[in-house]
Amino acid sequence: MEEVLRIEDLHKSFADLAVLKGIDLAVNRGETIVILGASGSGKSTLLRCVNFMEIPSSGRIVMNGRAVGRAVDGKQTYSEKELTRLRARVGMVFQHFNLFPHMTARENVMEGPRTVLKLDPAECARRADTYLDKVGLAWKADAHPSELSGGQQQRIAIARALAMEPEVMLFDEATSALDPELVGEVLGTMKELADEGMTMLIVTHELGFAYTVADRVLFLSEGRILEQGTPAEVLTYPTQEGTKNFLRGHGSFRLPEPQLD
Ligand SMILES: Nc1ncnc2c1ncn2[C@@H]1O[C@H](COP(=O)(O)OP(=O)(O)OP(=O)(O)O)[C@@H](O)[C@H]1O
Ligand SMILES: [Mg+2]
Repeated sequence: MEEVLRIEDLHKSFADLAVLKGIDLAVNRGETIVILGASGSGKSTLLRCVNFMEIPSSGRIVMNGRAVGRAVDGKQTYSEKELTRLRARVGMVFQHFNLFPHMTARENVMEGPRTVLKLDPAECARRADTYLDKVGLAWKADAHPSELSGGQQQRIAIARALAMEPEVMLFDEATSALDPELVGEVLGTMKELADEGMTMLIVTHELGFAYTVADRVLFLSEGRILEQGTPAEVLTYPTQEGTKNFLRGHGSFRLPEPQLD
């Protein structure tokens, strides 16, 4: 197995609030990891450190065997140029999709390749077509966000992240802001990506999705990984009180019907 991403002894504090207290995680190419944890346990902060929307207080992020930044007096320091390059390799999808309202779906998807990667117009167009098609929305290419449902907007946001052709995709509660009937289509798109071998770190409260799609489930508690394992290990046979309490709070979850075709 080939390691794509490694998080080493990651700490993150905001002023005197220690949020991440030593996270170690190695992610293999093609792996889908679901991160669970109570509100405030540090899930979003962890994802944001992986793509350097937040700068870690200490520890290292290693991509393809190379540490991001360089050690100066025992502390990692980062150049803006390097972080811009790194962010292009790590796609992120948020709860609120933040599409540009004045641009069409297609223009939204082309924007990163055009302005960040500075690709030529033909390649930007090719990527827009490819990734709109992948999320099943080629037919909405000319629509503006206001003309799309929440689920469609989120799928455009996924296409926008994919158009950068990242090595890792991060999802932070990508379905939490959606009406219940729209959640399934977005989870379906995420499952397809997982099936195609995309490497993904996913924060979600959708336990049924975690059960069926994740290769590994992590349970975060107070800035540490309290428990991790296969979905069955963590969700069905948790060993830690913290995990058990969390799962009690979420009630039971129903697995999707078996697909028999
Ligand atoms: N920019 C910031 N400045 C100060 N404190 C922050 C900042 N970002 C997060 N925090 C704090 O860090 C802690 C962890 O926040 P984080 O958003 O990572 O939690 P979470 O697990 O994603 O929670 P939720 O499930 O509610 O999204 C919280 O106490 C939060 O208030
Ligand atoms: Mg969060």
